[in-house]
Amino acid sequence: MIRVLFVCLGNICRSPMAEAVFNSSVEKTGLSGLIDSDSAGTSDYHIGEPPDSRTMDIVHKYRLELNHQGRQFTASDFDKFDYIVAMDQSNLSNIKRLLPNDMSDERIFLMRDFDHKADTKDVPDPYWSEADGFEEVYQILLRSCQNFIDYLKKNRADLTT
Ligand code: 4NP
Repeated sequence: MIRVLFVCLGNICRSPMAEAVFNSSVEKTGLSGLIDSDSAGTSDYHIGEPPDSRTMDIVHKYRLELNHQGRQFTASDFDKFDYIVAMDQSNLSNIKRLLPNDMSDERIFLMRDFDHKADTKDVPDPYWSEADGFEEVYQILLRSCQNFIDYLKKNRADLTT
């Protein structure tokens, strides 16, 4: 099983939506049971809380599945996950700050490394925006997750056998 962790700041808007979009794309690509994902936040702001209602609106609109409680990213996640995907550059630097010295950072990515349409490296934080901000995040995640799955298919021999 390949395990992917999506990480944002609060773990109530972007990263749980990424988890839901990614899991749906994995299923549609026929890779269920081979790749799994979870999400976490770099902050402790929303530990134990459900995803933001505006994220759940997107989940329902696009018939995704999401069952998640906010949790904080910890250094032990480096051992539990094969890939860590940050939503923005601030999340990325907070994650890398916790990386043990003897561990490589080559498994840590930015979500928009996989968005060929990106004019910025960041998935915008929609927390202070209206519903259209969440719709924009969904469209970014849809493109990026599909391209990330294509990357995994190309780079992981265990997915093609
Ligand atoms: P997220 O959005 O990082 O995409 O979950 C945010 C959620 C909460 C806060 C900031 C961003 N906050 O400041 O509480």
